[in-house]
Amino acid sequence: STPLRLGIAGLGTVGVGVVRILRRQAELLSARTGRDLQLVAVSARDKDRDRGVPLSGYAWESDPVALARRDDIDVFVELMGGHDGPAKEATEAALATGKDVVTANKALLAHHGQALAEMAEAAGRTIRFEAAVAGGIPIIKSLSEGLAGNEITRVMGVMNGTCNYILTQMEATEQPYEVLFEECAKLGYLEADPELDVGGIDAGHKLALLSAIAFGTRVDFGSVKLEGIQRITLEDIQQARDMGFRIKLLGVAQRTPRGLEQRMQPCLVPAQSPLGQLEGGTNMVVIEGDAVEQIVLRGPGAGEGPTASAVMGDICDLARGLRIATFGQPAAGLDPVPPASAALP
Ligand code: HSE
Repeated sequence: STPLRLGIAGLGTVGVGVVRILRRQAELLSARTGRDLQLVAVSARDKDRDRGVPLSGYAWESDPVALARRDDIDVFVELMGGHDGPAKEATEAALATGKDVVTANKALLAHHGQALAEMAEAAGRTIRFEAAVAGGIPIIKSLSEGLAGNEITRVMGVMNGTCNYILTQMEATEQPYEVLFEECAKLGYLEADPELDVGGIDAGHKLALLSAIAFGTRVDFGSVKLEGIQRITLEDIQQARDMGFRIKLLGVAQRTPRGLEQRMQPCLVPAQSPLGQLEGGTNMVVIEGDAVEQIVLRGPGAGEGPTASAVMGDICDLARGLRIATFGQPAAGLDPVPPASAALP
């Protein structure tokens, strides 16, 4: 059988993780998919940096758009990040030149996912993004495939590990938000623009993607009500605990008579519930459907191994010829609307 030829743009934590899995598990991946997964070319900002993984066997492109256009790759793997600029240009170039795309870029998809999905469909290609939401948890696959027989009524979740880490450390150590924010900066837990994490924006991007899949609507990040964790005090945490609750940065998307409402905001959750027992940098997604009732998925939401695991799942699907479009033409009848009030769900 013919190999599946890959080009990877972006060799940060996740990109390096994918290269490592491709090298370490070549045999297993080939046995599992029936094809050799062949990394042909890579691209990143700095060619000379030692990334701890040998790269000399792969062609080097300094321009990700040039990588995306190469005619010796079948799949363009976008792991650069950023919602405009090179990541968007390269993704468009890949689709325009007949490649499938695998991306971990939640910001790109939250802003341009609808247009990119339509572009992919018109070109007869697919754009896969399991790694964009909740890291290692196979949530996109669960929603679009395993739960395809359900009318989804609600999707909830903790989808930013950094915020959950800060909130759980505030509880455990009684240190204020500002101190833990600095600790996260030192530990390298924060996005390049920390506002994306603590302002709830990164988690809001992820919720907008899940909602579109779960409810068959267009991706509409602009209607997600966003509130971050910056103003949570130790007193808030203490009072919540005294009442048997914990504070979580919780995303909720649900059907209402007005349309699909999406919120990402600090919420009180019962301490004994699955969400209330979530510790540290972990993610959790709760899905409710008319047939399945409720399922809870929990796992690491970031990091080299977990995020690369999700990228590899998409690559393996493409190797097997599975080209399920996760969102494309939105279904009629339900539109995303900004939540009517600040009331907690
Ligand atoms: N900053 C994100 C988080 C990384 O903390 O969850 C994964 O998207």
